[in-house]
Amino acid sequence: MSKAKESSMRAGTSKDEVAPQDKSSQPRKTSYTSKLLVTAITLSALAFLVSRDQSGTLDTYTLCSNSGSQDIYTVDAQNTKVQCIVVKNGWITDSGLLGDIQERWNDTASGEGNMVVKWIPSGTVVLPGMSDSHCHILEYGASRQIPLSTGKNVRDTVSLVEEYIRAHPDLAENVPRVVEGWGWDHASWDVEKLPTWRDFELNPITANHKIILQSRDGHALWVSRAALADSAPFPDEIEGGVIVRDENNEPTGVFIDSAQDLIKRPVLTQEDLERQFTTTVNDALKHGLTSLHDAGFKPESLAFFRRQAEAGKLPLRIYGMTFFDEYAEYWGDQRAPLVGAGSGRLTARSVKIFADGALRTGGAALYEPYADNPSTRGAMRISTELLHKVVPRFLKDGWQVNVHAIGDRANGIVLDAFEAALQGANVTALRPRLEHAQIMTKADMNRLGKLGVIASVQPTHVIGDMWFAQDRLGPERVKGLYAFRSIIDAGARVTLGSDFPVEGVNPLAGFYAAITRVGTDGTSPHGPGGWFPEQCLTREEALRGMTIDPAFASFTEDTLGSLEPGKRADFVVLSKDIMSIPASEVLETKVKATVLDGKVAYGAL
Ligand SMILES: *[C@@H]1O[C@H](CO)[C@@H](O)[C@H](O)[C@H]1NC(C)=O
Ligand SMILES: *[C@@H]1O[C@H](CO)[C@@H](O)[C@H](O)[C@H]1NC(C)=O
Repeated sequence: MSKAKESSMRAGTSKDEVAPQDKSSQPRKTSYTSKLLVTAITLSALAFLVSRDQSGTLDTYTLCSNSGSQDIYTVDAQNTKVQCIVVKNGWITDSGLLGDIQERWNDTASGEGNMVVKWIPSGTVVLPGMSDSHCHILEYGASRQIPLSTGKNVRDTVSLVEEYIRAHPDLAENVPRVVEGWGWDHASWDVEKLPTWRDFELNPITANHKIILQSRDGHALWVSRAALADSAPFPDEIEGGVIVRDENNEPTGVFIDSAQDLIKRPVLTQEDLERQFTTTVNDALKHGLTSLHDAGFKPESLAFFRRQAEAGKLPLRIYGMTFFDEYAEYWGDQRAPLVGAGSGRLTARSVKIFADGALRTGGAALYEPYADNPSTRGAMRISTELLHKVVPRFLKDGWQVNVHAIGDRANGIVLDAFEAALQGANVTALRPRLEHAQIMTKADMNRLGKLGVIASVQPTHVIGDMWFAQDRLGPERVKGLYAFRSIIDAGARVTLGSDFPVEGVNPLAGFYAAITRVGTDGTSPHGPGGWFPEQCLTREEALRGMTIDPAFASFTEDTLGSLEPGKRADFVVLSKDIMSIPASEVLETKVKATVLDGKVAYGAL
């Protein structure tokens, strides 16, 4: 045994620790067979050298739990657990018991020694890299700029903006620069009233600035007088949105849903974008996320991610849905879907269409009026005619179609369009998605299952919305809100996300919410047993919902989402076994390592 090999080992006998050189196990989707052409002697001599890349991390290793345990959750079709996986050049090439692997790979002629065993500490587990099926990457980075969510009332929130301006003297000297923030939530303030531009006037620091603040759910903007003046004049009305007005019919400074587009936003520089991106990437990797489905690329963000991919600067995988503006021309035949740019890290092959608004701001399109505001049943943001026109066209032109639908009426109308477009089509080849699928009638859940449309849902919304949802929807209709169990029982596939920055970035918070339906303090409006506990997911379902299901929902189940030979080595090591610990401990669980393509992107192995 070489000195180098000895030093790479930690305990036990050499027989148990060093898997011999690869020769027998052929990965299905990679091509290192050419290496076998190199003579055995050269290979033997070079083995140790080629197993390390420039940064000194290993390219080839066997990752194992202690002898006698099987702490690697493969999330294969049978939810198998294994003791070890073999990682080679970024791919998984074998799995099983260490002894069996060694036997399969045992060939003294080819030279043993370049396979190092890395042991995971006992008590920890390995899962496939986690995915967030619905999030907003750059917006999350932007939202961390001024943390508005801590504001308890409107004055408090304005003070947070004041603090930010004081901490950034360049802004104070340069009044025309726009102050942008994200995360105000009047539903959580002690007086639940929409703010106005006048609130900024009461504070001498904020009074003269151009300020544009996005609401927590992303469906409203609150702007200052200077920002308002910048974007004036405004139309009397706008389809799919609301310009909030006072008793004199003057805009108050709040713009809801499509009315947000009336506000002029500053153009972000490459530095701005990189700063936002880095903030998000760091938080995502720290929480074990390896794939993010961005639910709304704009042309600028798509261009930015393309540049990053070309420069090899995507530390994790991004699956983008490009926003379709219902007032603009159809573009599905003008551009080609982007698949696997930047060594497989960037794909933009789906379109995001908005059907309606959000429940919190009363923009969700319902069949019956809101229980707490009988004058409205919400609004559709896109016409039924346009939906029926563009859905089949996008599908035909090779795009996955992902439609934001919150209210039961919006979900029904979108399903009508999907049903018509899927006549005689192969749904597995098209994989249309309902983004949110939040409030659904029983009949539409059954239709969802029958059609094979994917429900992209956000479990953390449950524990935020459960406190006000019944007021808004009434005791009967509320049963169809976040009814994940009913959706699965209807035969539909669910894929899980957070909608960050609307919620936090931690996928384990989603896992916890999905399996408990209680808040982080263990309570719910229905007690500690959970809010409609019959709608809880099992841990297996929740785990699949953040690994293999998002892989399917992004056409990557052949290479991602489970730890099986032939797949990419994207995995995480968690400090605790979330599949067996008490649910309350899930939120204390830490990510010890996040690995993409076999390489550590966060933490250590
Ligand atoms: C590897 O093969 C040799 C020769 O056939 C055998 O003696 C040895 O026990 C094998 N090692 C393992 C771990 O199977
Ligand atoms: C449907 O599409 C999937 C994925 O492209 C393919 O594997 C399957 O063979 C297709 N089924 C039929 C009946 O064409």
